Amino acid sequence: MSVLSSLKKAFRSSGSQNFPNDLESLWMPFSANKHFKKNPRIISRAKGMYYYTPSGDQILDGVAGLWCCNAGHGREQIVEAIKRQAEELDFAPAFNMGHPKSFELSSKLSQMAPRGFNHVFFGNSGSEAVESALKIALSYWREKGQESKKILIGRNRGYHGTNFGGVSVGGIEKNRAQFNKFLPEVYHLSDTHNLKKNAFSKGQPEWGEELADELDTMIEKYRPENIAAVIVEPVAGSTGVLIPPKNYLNKIKEKCVENKILLIFDEVITGFGRLGTSFASEYFDITPDLICLAKGINSGTVPMGAVLVQDEIYNAFMNKDEKMIDLFHGYTYSAHPLACAASLAALKLYEEEGLFKRAKELSKYWEDAIHSLKGVKNIIDIRNLGLIGAVELEPMDGKPTRRAYNVLCEAFVNQKTLLRVTGDIIALSPPLIIEKNQIDQLIDNLKTTLQQTE
Ligand SMILES: Cc1ncc(COP(=O)(O)O)c(C=O)c1O
Repeated sequence: MSVLSSLKKAFRSSGSQNFPNDLESLWMPFSANKHFKKNPRIISRAKGMYYYTPSGDQILDGVAGLWCCNAGHGREQIVEAIKRQAEELDFAPAFNMGHPKSFELSSKLSQMAPRGFNHVFFGNSGSEAVESALKIALSYWREKGQESKKILIGRNRGYHGTNFGGVSVGGIEKNRAQFNKFLPEVYHLSDTHNLKKNAFSKGQPEWGEELADELDTMIEKYRPENIAAVIVEPVAGSTGVLIPPKNYLNKIKEKCVENKILLIFDEVITGFGRLGTSFASEYFDITPDLICLAKGINSGTVPMGAVLVQDEIYNAFMNKDEKMIDLFHGYTYSAHPLACAASLAALKLYEEEGLFKRAKELSKYWEDAIHSLKGVKNIIDIRNLGLIGAVELEPMDGKPTRRAYNVLCEAFVNQKTLLRVTGDIIALSPPLIIEKNQIDQLIDNLKTTLQQTE
């Protein structure tokens, strides 16, 4: 039976009327389209810790979908909130108009945020959160009359989404190579990943705080009066879970303060309990100037991104003619009612079930479980923080990324487990509702897959 006809059969037998009849028409993002369409991996339902394929296979979710579904899947309270909202108010224009849930949600987020973050700007994704934060940072300095502050500093192996601003400050060569127009005046710090010094570190690595001193060199070269902002992920996720060395982020923060440079934390993956706290800023006890959020903001149920903004920054925009627009930026779907309703329900659920505390309590068990893989074939590093983990593999000769890709496919098909791979690194970030026996199962499935994959 062809792949397509078996898929159709599977979809029909699962009761879905909407089985795909043409795999070709969808251009899948960040995917090996040709290979996928020969070997499709389809998920059609989800509940709790599991996805289900159309033919009913239960797939253990090792990555909260894509670092999103922190409360697990199919949570009734969130589903009901979305349904109710769709009936009550399906859409509201965001420009010069408001709807109650957008204000309720921004107040709630401000309450959860570190002190001073009393303002929230909404978009629809992590990429849009980053784009918004970069624009706010650049325009803030103009508002302050310091127009020369235009340089942005990112970091190698940083991932800040896929819009032109985010790709410019991000540090992934492959994400740039196919395109040829980016923001000017962007520079990058070195990444902090060093296997010679830090392989198999548990938690934050000991070596590497001195890498923050590169910022001094940049500040000296480009001058503080020309630098608008530094943007970093507190824990870099998409390039393979790079845990910041001890004291590195504090040093970056100090240098930003000393030189009046804004610090943007991109917390798209670290926000909402991933490290056992509301935000990584709280975990590291560092207060940046802007915080980018998405994903866990509503447990991945409706597209949404947000920027938490410090009072000082927001206030700088509020001193003009009150009938004039203060920020020339925004989206049709900023603070979409469905996304807001989903977020309010997810935040309530996080609180009621104590999921952030739960993540904190589980983190030691998680650390021991993932580090128990040491010695398994092809592993060259294991790292972890909070409920995040990564296993780095020796690349195949002449075929970088192939080994981890094979692991992804094998784990799905033979171990019924969803992993995330990036380069030759396997990243893990389960829903915060994971139980200890499911952690054991996840690690065991990964072990078996690694043993069985070339
Ligand atoms: C740190 C970080 N920033 C931004 C993004 C982009 O988010 P989105 O894919 O929702 O645009 C991601 C996505 O993984 C991310 O990890």
